Amino acid sequence: MDTNRLSKKIEDILNHQVSKEAEAAQVFLSYGCWADAQGYGGVANFLFRHSGEERNHMMKVMQYIMQRGGTVKITAIKAPPKDPTNLQDCFEKAFKHEVDNTTAIYEIVNLAHKEGDWATFNFAQWFVKEQIEEEKLVMDLLDKLKIAGGPKATDESLFNLDKYLENAADDVPLARDASVDNPE
Ligand SMILES: [Fe+2]
Ligand SMILES: [Fe+2]
Repeated sequence: MDTNRLSKKIEDILNHQVSKEAEAAQVFLSYGCWADAQGYGGVANFLFRHSGEERNHMMKVMQYIMQRGGTVKITAIKAPPKDPTNLQDCFEKAFKHEVDNTTAIYEIVNLAHKEGDWATFNFAQWFVKEQIEEEKLVMDLLDKLKIAGGPKATDESLFNLDKYLENAADDVPLARDASVDNPE
């Protein structure tokens, strides 16, 4: 008796997402190593923590596939891209990675909707929400860098930004979570 509750297409797209999250973890790991080598220890720490989050996403998708009776396939992943040229480039590339991942999540949502696989549709909603947060997190980094002077940022302002990121929170407050009792 077949107890796999996922269609072949859904199983494939979810397995693809497992690889994508693993790739994202490697990308942020490599950017973190680059940042550390440039002397930005705070940025490095921030990126290392973010890499850990991507790995958690990978585990979450894996667990869902297993929960539904599907088969997880762990495959080779792409090598991270070239090192960024500066902090602006680093954050811009990080933003592009997040947007690219959001697109991949939307593809899962679209397919689940098309197939009427409401369990997967519902599961994917967690990631839809998570991607709003992840994109906002990187937008905030770009905003902070802009305030620090953007491409013309002085060493002193970059030093302060780096120090700030050392202990910055991994998630950002969003308007949708704000309420009268708990304004954010
Ligand atoms: Fe992710
Ligand atoms: Fe992400």
